[in-house]
Parts: sequence; structure tokens; C-alpha cells
Amino acid sequence: MATRSSGRKAAAFASKDSAATAHGPAAAASNPAQRTPGGHRSELCRNVLRTAPDQAVLDLLAACAADTFARPDFGQQLVSIKKSFVERDYDAVFKTPAHLPIYAAQYTPGRALCYLDLIRTEPLLLRFLLRRQRLRTVCLGGGAGSEIVALAAARALLAERRAGDAPASGDASAAAPDGSAAAAADRLATLDLQPHPVPVPAAPPPRLTDLHVYDMGDWGDVLTRQAEVMRERWQFAAGAAAGELRFRFVEGDILDMAASAHGDLLRELARADLVTAMFVINELFVSRERTLALLKVLLEHMRPGALLLVVDSAGDFSHLQVGRRTFMVYTLLDSLRGWRQLVAHDAQWYRVPPGLRYPLEVQNMRYFVRLYQRERDEPPANVQ
Ligand SMILES: C[S@@+](CC[C@H](N)C(=O)[O-])C[C@H]1O[C@@H](n2cnc3c(N)ncnc32)[C@H](O)[C@@H]1O
Repeated sequence: MATRSSGRKAAAFASKDSAATAHGPAAAASNPAQRTPGGHRSELCRNVLRTAPDQAVLDLLAACAADTFARPDFGQQLVSIKKSFVERDYDAVFKTPAHLPIYAAQYTPGRALCYLDLIRTEPLLLRFLLRRQRLRTVCLGGGAGSEIVALAAARALLAERRAGDAPASGDASAAAPDGSAAAAADRLATLDLQPHPVPVPAAPPPRLTDLHVYDMGDWGDVLTRQAEVMRERWQFAAGAAAGELRFRFVEGDILDMAASAHGDLLRELARADLVTAMFVINELFVSRERTLALLKVLLEHMRPGALLLVVDSAGDFSHLQVGRRTFMVYTLLDSLRGWRQLVAHDAQWYRVPPGLRYPLEVQNMRYFVRLYQRERDEPPANVQ
């Protein structure tokens, strides 16, 4: 379904349980779950997500990209995309619709794995995602879907863990002290002594993962496919342990939206628990003044306590030139007022674990990460 919003294309995809079948030889070859007949498939896929989440993410993306791998111009288009990146001609990549599925097939897998790994190993982020029955996220420049897939995978995994499943072997987060800390905190919360008679606990609100994606590229088809396959394979549905996955895509330039006080963006920023800017901040800083204006809009409209997650290249792509001086883009972010810095790593590696299968080589990544909390005017809030 596609609707128009303030002159820009907006696609809203309500949660649905209909089976979106994966197709194509690449998917069939790399996805054992697909070979399982009918009724067992969803169950098996869910178990694969729980016991081997990284492979489940890659299988999902291989299924989504099966038609793209079959395109005769795949190699040629990929060379053209890489050349544009070297020239920092981002418009040539993201404003050419034919490039988008190819970009997603090549770059989304490594990023999605990296972001999932970041969530699993960063205690604050893990706890934040674990505790929220309803999570509202705004993904700035989230077009290729990496952060959406990682967030959905994390939410589905955490829901199962929370529902009391034994931690699965082979899942790094299960054994991580961070994960245990979050689980212990949750247990403590539920073991609080109650006055007598024990009040009947209110029914928890339905579990909901609500993702609002803003991107200038025409990513609707790529994202719709990802959302469909995630819902089916990872069993997102109202009433299911993973809960509902709601996803909405708005096509447009976020710098223009910030400059024009775009109502839809401002409303979602005000409601968001988490705003992400994953591998987009460098591109934005090509227009420095307008990006500073966007950051001001985030500060003005995000609610106190909400989180802003920024991840980008730790290499020279993140260099900002001011006069004769060069510095990393996070130095500027760190200097902004109104944000409490919760996590800061200037350069860390994500290395793809051996043994994973995907039709293309999945790249390691070296990246910086910043997690900020929108401060209150009074003393800063604790992350819950
Ligand atoms: C390098 S890709 C990263 C995609 C995704 N966040 C990820 O981590 O895989 C950058 C994305 O930001 C989008 N983008 C860049 N500048 C933008 C702008 N001014 N407004 C909206 N989207 C923008 C591009 O269209 C592209 O989808």
C-alpha cells in the first residue's frame, strides 16, 4: 500500500500474517528452512533465529535478494556503485532506483550482522530493547534495511528470552554478562514484595515493534519485502511472543524535512524511544549547516530520555574538514549540548564469524558508535 504524505511518497505496511514465500536458487541453496514442508517451516525458522541468529539474518536477506542475484547486470551495477562511493557521489548510488536492490544485496548483510552484534554486546542498548513492551524507532537514512533487520531480530530474540525460554547455545548474547545483567534486573523487578492482598497485575500492553524509516531513496520495494519475510519467518504477529512488527517508510530528504518542519517527521521524533542514524551521518555532513539544523530539530523534538544511536565508518569517510583542520565527525557530535553520552567507541571492528553462508562475501566493518540520551533540563534520566 502506498499513500502520499505532504507531497512525499509514504508507504505504510501494516502487520500481516500472510506467508511471503522466499524464492530463487540463492535463497533455496542457503536456507535449509525453506526446504521444510509447509507447517513446519515457520517453527523451524524461529528456532534458527534463536539458535543461529546470524545465519538466520543472512538467510532472510538472501531470500529477499534472490531475484536481484539473478539479474544479468548485477556485477556491472555493483562496479558502478563502488565507483560512485569512491567519488563520494552518494546521489548516483541512492537516487538511481536500479542500484538499490543491488546495494541492499551487497551491503545490508554485513551491516545487519554488525548492528545485531552491537545490540547484543552493548548492555545499555540490550536492556533498553529488552524492557520495552512497545518500541518506537525512527530510522534516519534507514533505506537499505540493515538496522531494521537487526532491530527486528533483536526484538524477536529478546521476546523469546523474556518469555522464559532457556538461552540457546551458540547465541553470544545468551552467555554475555550484559545479557544476564538485564535478565537479572528484570527478575528483580518482578520479585518485588507485594502488599496483601496481591493486586491483580494489569495485562501488559501488546508487544509492538514500531519502525518509521525516512530515506531519500526509493526503498519501498526492498523494505516491504524484508518486512514481509521477517514477519513470516520470525513470527511477528499480534499475540505472538515476538509481538507485532509495524513498519512505515517515508521517502524524502531528511535535511529538507528538518528545514521545512515536516509534520510527520516531527511527530514521530516526539514519540520515538530510539532514533538511529546508521551510516548516514557522513553523507549528511556534505551539507554541514543543514545537518546541524537537523541535529537541532532532533534535540528540540525528541523527548527527554529518548536515545540517539549514531554509527558510521571509523575511517576517513568520517573526516570533517574545517579550515585546515581535519577531525572526526563524532568530535562535533560530542560537542553538542543537550545530549548525555552513554556509549562511545571511536573505532571497533565487527568481524564476520567463520562458517556463515551467503551468496556474496560478507564484509567485516570498522566503525565508530555513539549512543546519546536526550537530556532533561533537570538532572539526566536513567536509561530504563
Ligand atoms: C550508506 S546508506 C546506509 C543505509 C542503512 N542505514 C545501513 O546502515 O545500511 C545511506 C542511506 O542514507 C540515505 N540518505 C543519505 N542522505 C539522505 C538525506 N539527506 N535524506 C534522506 N536519506 C538520506 C541514502 O539514501 C541511503 O539509503
